[in-house]
Amino acid sequence: MPIENIPLAAVLGSPISHSKSPTLYNYWFKKYSIRGHYIPIDVDPSNLNQILRVMPKMGFVGANVTIPHKEIVLTIADQISDRAAVIGAANTLSFTKAGKIFADNTDGEGFIENLRHHYPSWNPKEGPAIVLGAGGASRAVVSALLQNSTPEIWIANRTRARAEKMTSDFGARLRVIDWYAVSKFISEAATLVNATSLGMIGKPKLQIDLRPLSKKTLVSDLVYAPLETDLLLFAKNKGCRTVNGIGMLIHQAMPGFSRWFGTKPAIDHEIKNLLLA
Ligand code: ATR
Repeated sequence: MPIENIPLAAVLGSPISHSKSPTLYNYWFKKYSIRGHYIPIDVDPSNLNQILRVMPKMGFVGANVTIPHKEIVLTIADQISDRAAVIGAANTLSFTKAGKIFADNTDGEGFIENLRHHYPSWNPKEGPAIVLGAGGASRAVVSALLQNSTPEIWIANRTRARAEKMTSDFGARLRVIDWYAVSKFISEAATLVNATSLGMIGKPKLQIDLRPLSKKTLVSDLVYAPLETDLLLFAKNKGCRTVNGIGMLIHQAMPGFSRWFGTKPAIDHEIKNLLLA
């Protein structure tokens, strides 16, 4: 294949050096013997539009976007998926041959696929979910749970107004519960998700009384550093099914890889170890 035909993809953000996406993509290129390049690019928000417009002409087939571009990119894209529109952010951009930009958000799909990967029998319809947090990650999780017919979602967030905003954006199946009263509801949750940054290395602990937690609840933490958070450790000791955040990171990248490079990657232990190294 002549060098000019090797497809290119990138992750755009600022800062970008911490991104795990190049590690993932380069691992999959090697594993599946695919000729492609994936590079991190530090982009100032003021240059985002101009850079995205020129990328398709340079041979880029798509790009991931991360902080601080995930919301603003929706004002630049030519077409937006329904899920990106309802979440209010995109993480995966595909470029058409004519240079048009299609913006999608695969975070929620990554969340659901990761849970299904670990527990194929997990049924999102089984009962209410409690989601802690009301930021971008929470919006992606909530949108995916609703899409997968979770009957009710109870949102708790330190800043209550942000959770209230979600009820007006996502509709009647959402209900706001008080951040300080989560433990009163916890025993009824079929699924409990931490979508805050609490419990992450360098952040405060998640201080919720988890004692009423039922062993029937599936507990998922989007935090992956540390891999086993205090929340997951408590839940595991209680006998709950638990899912850490590293798989979501991998699953949210899979749709972009298969769209751009034509191969659906599989999850393996080596990639998890590489990401955690
Ligand atoms: P992301 O896009 O990863 O969701 P974010 O939009 O900054 O990031 O959201 C972070 C989430 O963690 C929010 O729900 C935030 O609560 P606020 O909306 O009140 O800021 C939550 N969070 C972060 N630090 C927190 C803390 N010390 N106590 C409680 N919640 C916290």
